[in-house]
Amino acid sequence: MIILKNLTLRRSAKVLLDNVSVTLNPGEKVGLVGRNGAGKSTLFGLVNGTLHEDGGDFSMPSQWRLGQVAQNMPETQESATDFVLGGDTRLFELREALARAEVRHDRDLDNAELGMEIAHLHTDLADAGEHDAVPRAQSLILGLGFTTAQLYEPVNSFSGGWRMRLQLARALMCPSDLLLLDEPTNHLDLDALVWLEAWLKRYAGTMIVISHDREFLDAVTNVTLHIERQQLIRYGGNYSAFETLRSQQLELQQSAFSKQKEKIAHLQKFIDRFKAKASKAKQAQSRVKALERMEKIAPVLADAEFTFEFKEPANLPNPMLAINEGQFGYVVDGEAKLIVGGVSRSVMAGQRIGILGANGQGKSTLVKTIARDLQPLGGTITEGKGLNIGYFAQQELDVLRPQDTPLEHMFRLAREAGPNSGESGREQDLRNFLGTFNFTGEMVKQTVGTMSGGEKARLVLAMMVWQRPNLLLLDEPTNHLDLATREALSMALNEFEGTVMLVSHDRALLRAVCDEFWLVGRSKVSPFDGDLDDYQKYLLDEAKRLRELARQESAANADKLAPPPPPVKSDAQQRQQLAARAKPLKRELEQAEKRMAELNADKAFLDSRMAAPLPAAEIAQAGRRLKAITDELHTLEERWLVLSGDIETMETAR
Ligand SMILES: Nc1ncnc2c1ncn2[C@@H]1O[C@H](COP(=O)(O)OP(=O)(O)OP(=O)(O)O)[C@@H](O)[C@H]1O
Ligand SMILES: [Mg+2]
Repeated sequence: MIILKNLTLRRSAKVLLDNVSVTLNPGEKVGLVGRNGAGKSTLFGLVNGTLHEDGGDFSMPSQWRLGQVAQNMPETQESATDFVLGGDTRLFELREALARAEVRHDRDLDNAELGMEIAHLHTDLADAGEHDAVPRAQSLILGLGFTTAQLYEPVNSFSGGWRMRLQLARALMCPSDLLLLDEPTNHLDLDALVWLEAWLKRYAGTMIVISHDREFLDAVTNVTLHIERQQLIRYGGNYSAFETLRSQQLELQQSAFSKQKEKIAHLQKFIDRFKAKASKAKQAQSRVKALERMEKIAPVLADAEFTFEFKEPANLPNPMLAINEGQFGYVVDGEAKLIVGGVSRSVMAGQRIGILGANGQGKSTLVKTIARDLQPLGGTITEGKGLNIGYFAQQELDVLRPQDTPLEHMFRLAREAGPNSGESGREQDLRNFLGTFNFTGEMVKQTVGTMSGGEKARLVLAMMVWQRPNLLLLDEPTNHLDLATREALSMALNEFEGTVMLVSHDRALLRAVCDEFWLVGRSKVSPFDGDLDDYQKYLLDEAKRLRELARQESAANADKLAPPPPPVKSDAQQRQQLAARAKPLKRELEQAEKRMAELNADKAFLDSRMAAPLPAAEIAQAGRRLKAITDELHTLEERWLVLSGDIETMETAR
């Protein structure tokens, strides 16, 4: 059971939770919801022990194992499979223990105790699901949208969004009693989303998930915790049930409030009328007391409405841009990797284009190239005169500087725009502007690094609006945004007079904003004539096709599933693979060195003891021990030679 009792939680001067009490029962699937900046992620910090309560009590069972998605971008040459396997901490520890015991046992075969230890470790490993750990890890990876060919690719070779998916898979791999997920669907497409929902429905432990995605919450939760105005309120039921309950409560509260207001007015009238009369003074006095004693019902305050608009573009070139025989992709170590090719299309003023496509098909590559972040590999992009692009990148938060404040970000924009841009760079004007994006008071001076995910995304939007673009390139702009802010974005885009190109898995947004679609898939960009329901069907069919393809591929490779077939790749990839393979060897080498040091110390100790006069029995015992040590040392030294030779070969091959 997780218990919050009269709990207060603060971040700097901000009180996020004020004297709240809530209980969560084992096995409950909890959706944690609330506006951007309400304190949801901070509450996770309390549960996982990185933060502490500022008042009241927090408790949860101490033996509970916690599964959570690490927030950092993984940097490792480990293969995707190994990285995800590493999430199973229990398995990892047992394997290490077994390896250690086996090394010792090899030198001391008669040691029955060690033999027992090893037998136990094997049983524990079997209990921990060692036999199917690799397939389990791989089904997580595949479920989240990777291909079989990628199972053994090094983590570093994946893009940011995909590495975060591996972090998610790693968290799911971890055997846990409590699973904390902070906006797990942000980088997932529809197919992976459906898979994750199905997985979470089977999860047996207690789960708390933060999300701004209604449908997802409805599918996986049965309790909702709502943070609002420093209160944390528990509702039995999923998100839709919560919305219904809450609106009923608000209505009740509103009508109780109105009734009470009438009653107060009545009492007040009585008091006013009779106060003057001596004969009625006593009754008046008791009414005054009644009024004082009355517990006041709070009025229902509507959530602070948030809307914004894009400025009218200074000009509208037509066409905005023309792509001719465009070849789009990446250059990796001097080698061109084509993602989509043969693109010849124009983008006209005022067009609203939704860019569709399954994950990894090249939507972001296309958008990035148009945004000039990538060079086309071939063909040309001709830009209209006066084209001014506003780009919201998928890794949107990368453009922010964590040490700087919103105000400093705006100053920088104003400086870059120059004095003739027609935009004011005065502090007060910039503050006013930030205010229209709900950055008020102290917040304009808070460092961006300490802001919540949604607050950062809102700042990027503000910066984009300030630059007064005529072409908006938006790559997954709604990640992190709460529902009200999504709504505001949708309205602003609808009124925008320039051109919009939008990549999003938010179907409500696509539907509201776009009136034509491009489909990126199978290395091409083609017009998509259907509606979004057709698109969902297309995605599912496409996913099925890819899975079928992968299955055929893996059937062909079935006998070589582990270890992976080393694909012949570019030098860089080969180097990466070598490094990945050298890693376990290095680890073994280190362990051998450590053990050798221990043995040498033991040996020195025994040598010194035997130099002194000892009873015969002890001499014999020490002699046997010394022999065992020397034998183990001998074998270890041999292994050490082999290992260091192998590692050297791998390293010179780089
Ligand atoms: N170190 C800090 N110093 C000052 N304020 C902070 C600090 N850390 C967080 N905050 C503020 O506390 C509030 C809660 O942040 P938190 O990340 O918990 O929000 P959230 O509910 O997860 O929002 P989102 O939906 O945007 O992710 C935010 O307004 C944030 O700016
Ligand atoms: Mg958050």
